[in-house]
Amino acid sequence: MVTQWIQTATDYIQRTSRFSCAFSGGRTPVEFYNLLSAEQDFELWSRVHIFMTDERFVDAEDKDNNFRLIRDNLLNYVKIPPENIYPIPTNVQTVGIAAEEYKNRLVGFFTLDQNRLPIIDLVVLGLGEDGHTASLFPQTEGIDAPYRLTMPVNENHLKYERISLTLPVLNNARHVYFMVAGKNKADIVRRVIEDKEPFPATQVQPTNGELTFLLDAAAASQLKDQQKYIYRDETISL
Ligand code: 6PG
Repeated sequence: MVTQWIQTATDYIQRTSRFSCAFSGGRTPVEFYNLLSAEQDFELWSRVHIFMTDERFVDAEDKDNNFRLIRDNLLNYVKIPPENIYPIPTNVQTVGIAAEEYKNRLVGFFTLDQNRLPIIDLVVLGLGEDGHTASLFPQTEGIDAPYRLTMPVNENHLKYERISLTLPVLNNARHVYFMVAGKNKADIVRRVIEDKEPFPATQVQPTNGELTFLLDAAAASQLKDQQKYIYRDETISL
């Protein structure tokens, strides 16, 4: 996975001179972030731009802040220019303002005209037991509103309000990696991949991009064709 990420980044940098990547929070990708932090190529990092798929509306230093997780496990250890890092702001008055500000950052970076979507080179997503991904939950309305880039999310069952990229943005990415691990995810993995039940995660179907599931054996255990999805890489035990 780390090797694959570096290879993809290098390819894009050679072709377009930059590489944009959106990272998720959650426990599953932490090992990947840690391993990636060993990559010390300054030429590479100086051309990498890191976005977030979603954020909890908590202080930047809160233990539940997704960007803090990325910072503490990856960004603190690599020579990425600070201006290449795009956390979702949470020091604003409302979650709606945060979503709007992040939309403006995307519009600026990708120089988007109206009714255009960013093309993020690679998006790393996780999968919740309820079929959510990023902060798009089964109950969340408007996750696929055309040309909507970001959205505030306020679900009663959640501890925090959140901000998320929307389905149109995820589906416009060039590569989407779902990282899923653990036996508790086996049921939802099957329902998403094989049964294709209409969860937000199932609706991630990149229009022109590539969708890859990176599963551990436990998460893949209810699939008929497990070997197709179990990720093998000596550098990561995911
Ligand atoms: C978050 C995420 C979320 C996460 C899934 C899976 O803010 O928590 O971005 O979508 O990826 O909930 O989380 P785990 O990897 O912890 O199972």
